[in-house]
Amino acid sequence: MRSVSASSCHKGELLAELLMRDEDYRAFAQFLERACGIVLGDNKQYLVASRLTPVLQAEGIPDLGDLVRALERRPTADLKGRVIEAMTTNETQWFRDAYPFEVLRKHLLPEMEKQGARRLRIWSAACSSGQEAYSISMTIEEYRAAGGRLDAEIVGTDISPAMIEQARAARYTANVASRGLASERQQRFFDAVGENTWQVKAEIRRRVSFRVHNLLESYAGLGRFDLVYCRNVLIYFGWDSRRDIVERIAQATKPGGYLIVGASESLSRHSEAFELLRLGGGVVYRRG
Ligand SMILES: C[S@@+](CC[C@H](N)C(=O)[O-])C[C@H]1O[C@@H](n2cnc3c(N)ncnc32)[C@H](O)[C@@H]1O
Repeated sequence: MRSVSASSCHKGELLAELLMRDEDYRAFAQFLERACGIVLGDNKQYLVASRLTPVLQAEGIPDLGDLVRALERRPTADLKGRVIEAMTTNETQWFRDAYPFEVLRKHLLPEMEKQGARRLRIWSAACSSGQEAYSISMTIEEYRAAGGRLDAEIVGTDISPAMIEQARAARYTANVASRGLASERQQRFFDAVGENTWQVKAEIRRRVSFRVHNLLESYAGLGRFDLVYCRNVLIYFGWDSRRDIVERIAQATKPGGYLIVGASESLSRHSEAFELLRLGGGVVYRRG
């Protein structure tokens, strides 16, 4: 999870806030929504100041107005990427919300196996530093250890190159490695590597690959999936982007395949391609 050190850039935050004119804030909000879908809304000046001050300082850009002009006139991929990176929230944890992994093990995998599937393609969209994709792989490992025969290829994607790099390395500090994880699973699925660092075991990593992908851009090249996890990212977007993304996920989902969204997210206003199923005390969506 990203955090801004108050002591290291408190002065800078205040400076950036004071220098933030309304029109610059609005122009920046428009840039951000166009670039990655995130809608800032009103009164997020403090958030923008605290997230962007380190970028402004590192780039030698005096204030938000100059940043917006640089993004409009000479938008290098590097500057754009650093700004998006700074503005995204990467909060995640192992087996987050439990239900999406329970329903996979108890309902979706047995159902798909019964229908003759042998190898699934699963997409963890907006996967942050990889915990969701690896939790899916651990769930499949547990399912197979209990006699299930299905296996899967899992593709994790995120807009942030830094998150994808971390996900690929599959190395986490002890603190991060234990967040949301029962110690039995930590012992079973991780190797201790170096001081204070744990790495996801090769048998869990072998199913998972990662790539940088912006949900607002083309999905061609990702292929089609039996199951899509797109959780805790749509909440940051406006209605049009949500509808567009859900439609495109529908096209990337095989008929009869499933979509799982975040606990506080719902598809009711975004798509007719999916039907809602109540399963095991929660909700999943099935492609018609
Ligand atoms: C809060 S995390 C959710 C991680 C994980 N899905 C979970 O539920 O624990 C949101 C992630 O969405 C990513 N993100 C934001 N905008 C995106 C976009 N336009 N395309 C792809 N990923 C995006 C961020 O980089 C961040 O890692």
